[in-house]
Amino acid sequence: MGLMIDAAVIGCGRMGAFTSDAVRRFAPPCWLPLAHAEAIRNHPALRLAALADTQADALERAAAHYGVAHTYLDPRRMIDDVRPSLAGIATRTIGRADILAHAVAAGTRALHVEKPLCNSMRELGALEALFAPEDVFITYGTIRRLLAPYRAAIEAVQSGRWGDLLEVQVNLGRGALYWTHPHSVDLLLYAAGGRAVESVSARLSGVEHGSHALEVESDPVVESASVWFTGGVEGRITRSPGSDLVLSCTGGQIAVEADGRTVTSYAPEGDDPYSVRRTLGSALTPDAPGGTLAPVSQLVACLQGDAAALTANAALKQDILLGQRILFAMVQSHAQAGRAVVPSEVDPGWSVLARSGTRFA
Ligand SMILES: NC(=O)c1ccc[n+]([C@@H]2O[C@H](COP(=O)([O-])OP(=O)(O)OC[C@H]3O[C@@H](n4cnc5c(N)ncnc54)[C@H](O)[C@@H]3O)[C@@H](O)[C@H]2O)c1
Repeated sequence: MGLMIDAAVIGCGRMGAFTSDAVRRFAPPCWLPLAHAEAIRNHPALRLAALADTQADALERAAAHYGVAHTYLDPRRMIDDVRPSLAGIATRTIGRADILAHAVAAGTRALHVEKPLCNSMRELGALEALFAPEDVFITYGTIRRLLAPYRAAIEAVQSGRWGDLLEVQVNLGRGALYWTHPHSVDLLLYAAGGRAVESVSARLSGVEHGSHALEVESDPVVESASVWFTGGVEGRITRSPGSDLVLSCTGGQIAVEADGRTVTSYAPEGDDPYSVRRTLGSALTPDAPGGTLAPVSQLVACLQGDAAALTANAALKQDILLGQRILFAMVQSHAQAGRAVVPSEVDPGWSVLARSGTRFA
C-alpha cells in the first residue's frame, strides 16, 4: 500500500459526519456516501486523522462513530497541529472563508468545501486570490455535476444527437438563495460547458436587510432567475418541484429527473413529429465514485498529480467562484427591479447572512 494521505473534517453535523436518514432512505444510490467523513473513510488513499467541531457533543459523537482519536473544538488548532493534506469543511457558511484561508496558509492543498462558499463579496475577493495558485485544489458541495446521471446527460447533449443546446432549466422547487440555489447555479454553469455568463436577472422574495442597504440578513426565496450565456443559451431557475435538470436542445430534451433516479430523452423519432420519452439506460449504472467520494477522489487525484484531475479542478475552481458571484448578482438584480446584471459589475459591498429563523445557511 502506498503512503496514506492525512485528511480531516471540520464541522461534524449532517454534511460533515452524519447523512440524514431521509437521504439514506430516498436519495438515488449515486448520492452515497454523502457525509465528508464517510467519503474520506471510503477512499483507499486517505486516513481520517482528525475531526473538529465547536460543539463538544457533535465532536464526541462523530469521534466515537468513526473511531478518530484526534478531536479539536478549535478548527484552527486542528489545522496547525495535524496539518492535513486534505480537509472537508462542513460548517455553516459564516466563518467558512476564514477557515479556508487558515487551512491554505498552513499548507492544506486540497479542500472539499460545503456550499454556499461565503457571505460577502469582500470574502469572495479574498477567496479568488486564495484559489488562484495551481497547487490549491478545491471541490464544492454542489456535487451533482460529478455524479453519473448528470455526466451522462451532459454527454448526451454534447454528442450533438439532439441538436444545439438552447435552454437549461433547474427545478428544485421554491427554494432559498443560499440553502438551495448554489446547487441550481452550479448545474447551470456545468450544463453551459464553459460558455461565458453575459448577465443575470432575478426576482426574489423575503429579502430582509440588515444594518445597511447592501446587507441581506435573510435567505431570500428565488421566485425566478435567468442566467444568460454567450451563444444565446439561457439558464433558468424555476419554482417547479421535482428535483430535475432539463436540457432543451433544438432537436429534443434530455432530463435528469428526481435527483438522478432517471435520465430521459424526449424527442421525435422517424416521420412522427411528436416527441417520445425514452430512458437513457446506460446513464443509470454508475461506474464512477458516488456522493462526496466523487469530489474527494478528484482532490486525491490532484494531490497525486493526475493530469486529467488537475485540468478538471482548475475549471471547477473557476465555476465555484463564479457560482457564488452569480448569487450576489441575483441579489443585486432584485434590488434593481430585475435589471440584467453583468457578473463583473456586482457591487463589492454586498453581503448575505442567510438567516432562517435562528439558523444560518
Ligand atoms: N451539499 C449539500 O447537498 C448540502 C446539504 C445540506 C447542507 N449543506 C450545507 O452544508 C453546511 C452544513 O450543513 P449541515 O446540515 O451539515 O449543518 P449542521 O448544523 O448539521 O452541522 C454543522 C456543524 O458544524 C459545526 N460548526 C459550526 N461552525 C463551526 C466552526 N467554525 N468550526 C467547527 N465547527 C463548526 C456545528 O457545531 C455543527 O456540528 C451548510 O452550509 C449547508 O448549507 C449542503
